[in-house]
Formats: sequence, structure tokens, C-alpha cells
Amino acid sequence: MDTIATPLHAADPVDSALEIGLKDLWFPICPSGFVKNDPVSLYRLGRKLALWRDATGKVHALEDHCPHRGAPLSLGVILGDRIACPYHGVEVRCDGTVMRVPGSPGCKLEGSRPTRAFHIEEANGAIFLFNASENIDTPPPLVLPEQLTSPDWSSFLCYVEWGCDYRYVVDNVMDPMHGAYLHKQSHTMSEGDMTAEFRIRDLEQGFIFEKVGQRDVNFDWSEWNEAGNIHTMRLEIPYPKTGGPGGNFTIVGACAPGPENTTSVFFWRCRKVSGWQRDTWRFLYKNRLEERHWKVLEQDRVAVEAMERDANRREMLYSHDMGLVRLRRRLRKLAEAQLERAAARS
Ligand code: FES
Ligand SMILES: [Fe+2]
Repeated sequence: MDTIATPLHAADPVDSALEIGLKDLWFPICPSGFVKNDPVSLYRLGRKLALWRDATGKVHALEDHCPHRGAPLSLGVILGDRIACPYHGVEVRCDGTVMRVPGSPGCKLEGSRPTRAFHIEEANGAIFLFNASENIDTPPPLVLPEQLTSPDWSSFLCYVEWGCDYRYVVDNVMDPMHGAYLHKQSHTMSEGDMTAEFRIRDLEQGFIFEKVGQRDVNFDWSEWNEAGNIHTMRLEIPYPKTGGPGGNFTIVGACAPGPENTTSVFFWRCRKVSGWQRDTWRFLYKNRLEERHWKVLEQDRVAVEAMERDANRREMLYSHDMGLVRLRRRLRKLAEAQLERAAARS
């Protein structure tokens, strides 16, 4: 067994930056249904956020902290694209600008832009936030993978909140070999070799970690993709004929760190289906397949949540873990670059 030593990152600034999620990327932060008529407070990406919808249904996000004395803006009143703080009525626009201080008109707070504001997009049943390192007027575009955007595909969002650091969620996806063990009783992952050789295949913006010589039998590969100003993961699970039309079942994943040691996890379950096949698959999925998928996901959750918080600092990795070793190095590199940019700005 060749082992790969894992470095200790305790109190390491790079690790601290990673823990709350990388800056200047899009992240899904909650399902669309979380934000209805009233403002909502959510802790994501190391911050408390106030989210609300204006009259057109567009979602806005500000740091959930009034610039006056810090009351939560999420307890305030929606005034279209601005929100009025419940404490003394200060009105903050969705770009972070104070538009009105009703108790002291003309005071210097009016017209200033002290509040952190975040750009939001809504797609595929989820609300996405651009985790900008400072207030910006225009974020780079959010470009989601074709499985979520092409009319040739159909998807269901499966949203879960797991009690673990998001990096355990990512490691779980980038570790295809667990399919043959943890999920060996499942209807889709009972086939194939219990041993495997893996290799890494580079993509333009990411990589695929795949078994050598076994494809379309079990959970045989995982993809890490940095295209579109968002980090996504992808994998395929082969489906028996009884699973309906559309070939392999594709899962597109992404996640965002939530409050202390929790992660908001988004798995879109996708099938390449259109026309009548689309309706057939959607019906079949809801009535027959979804419940089984939740069971498989529960196996992951139970295993990952039960790991000690520092489990990833006491590992003896072998060749099946090359994918996650590569990813951890990549994320550290991105975090280091982010810290350098922050230092250059200050
Ligand atoms: S704390 Fe918000 S208006 Fe005073
Ligand atoms: Fe799994």
C-alpha cells in the first residue's frame, strides 16, 4: 500500500479561508422555496445574510447587519429593492447603500455604502450567491453545467443539510470507490469489481478521477469542474432498464458551508430525456426512484457526519484517494491566491 501523508493545517490561514468557502465564486445557498414573502436570515459562507424578494420576485441579499447599530435587517420591512431595519427604520438598498435615515434626515450615513451586498441568481430550484470579496456592481456570469441548462436534460434538486465540514462532502463525491462498499446493497451499485485502479484525467478547468477499465457498471468516476465561476462535481450511476429512459443517471453536486460544522448540499439528479421520455422519467422518479435515492444519500450522511472533525488530519491514504488529494491541493492553491489578493488590496 502506498500511503500519502496528510499535512496538519491547524490554525493555518489557508485552512481558515477554506473553511468558510472560497471568495469570488458562485455558490448555491438554499432552495428557492426558502425565500417566500418575508425576509429570511441564513448563515452561509461565514456570514449572516438577509435575503428577500422584491415585488417582481427577484431575490436580493445583504449582510444581515444594519449599518446603524447592527440589528438584523432580516427582521425588517421589505420596500422593493431595499429593506428598512426594524430598530430605527434605516433603509438599505440591495447594493448596500443607505438610502434613508428617517430619524435624522440628511445625516452622513445617507448615500454611503457600508453594508455588504451580494449578487443573486436563481436557477434549477436553487438560489445562488456570488461570494464577492468586496462590494462589486457586476459579478462574472454564473454558467451552470449543461445537465442543468440544456432542454435535452431534466433534473430534480435534492437538498440536504449535513452536520459536517463541506470538505467531507466534497471528499465523499470525489471518492468513487465508496460506492462499491458503502452502497453495495443499493439497487444501482451492487455490480462491479471490489478492487480498482484509478487515474486522473485533466479537463480544461478541472479533472476526472476514474477507474481504469470499468465504466458504466457502478459509481466509476467523479468530476471536479471549475467552469462557469462555480465549483461543481459530477458523477454517473448506471441504471437498469427498469429505471426508465435516459441512460445513465447523472448527479451534479455543489455545496456551501453553513453554520458551524454544517454544509448545505445540493445534488441535482439528472437524466438526458426530452419529449415524452421526460414526462415518463419524471413520473417514474417521483413514484419509484426518489425514495431509493434518499436511502443511498442517508448512507453517505451517516458515514460522513459520524467522522471526527479532525478525521482528515489523521489519514493513511492510498491510491484510491488520489482524486481527493489532488483536489485538496488545488483548493489550497486557490485559497493561497485569494489571501495574496486580499493582502495586495489592503
Ligand atoms: S440598528 Fe438598524 S436602524 Fe438602528
Ligand atoms: Fe455515496
